[in-house]
Amino acid sequence: MHASPDDHLTIGEVIRRTGMPASALHFYERKGLIFSESTSGNQRIFSRHMLRRISLIIVAKRLSIPLSDVAEVFADLPTDRVPTHKDWQRVSRRWKKQLEERRRVIESLEHELTGCIGCGCLSMKACLLLNPDDTLQGRGPGPVRIQQPGVAP
Ligand code: FES
Repeated sequence: MHASPDDHLTIGEVIRRTGMPASALHFYERKGLIFSESTSGNQRIFSRHMLRRISLIIVAKRLSIPLSDVAEVFADLPTDRVPTHKDWQRVSRRWKKQLEERRRVIESLEHELTGCIGCGCLSMKACLLLNPDDTLQGRGPGPVRIQQPGVAP
């Protein structure tokens, strides 16, 4: 018989497949991000389709995406059935914007690593041109040229 998203997996199988420890699974379940059921023998079982949520939590953590953002996205997913492609498309639209902003910040940091990031240090040659006398401090705190795209002195 072929595996199906409705299959039930034991917590041991979920730990093996995701690499996420039991304590973390319990934590995310308490947070309402993942769900399991108890068998008549009081064994905790997860639907196979929960693996996708758990894996996205792992990726989000690696990207330092706050759990609150993940919760907001997951809140739009059905809990009583396997989410469809359409369900994931809907939630991915919401997440896409945040990921695009992250990509933009990473790319501009990559680009500006040897240039001026507008932080006020005035230690790079480019600061003379791009942030003379730290005029960018008027635009707000932190590395203004990374945080505010297209900002000029
Ligand atoms: S890099 Fe810090 S002010 Fe230019």
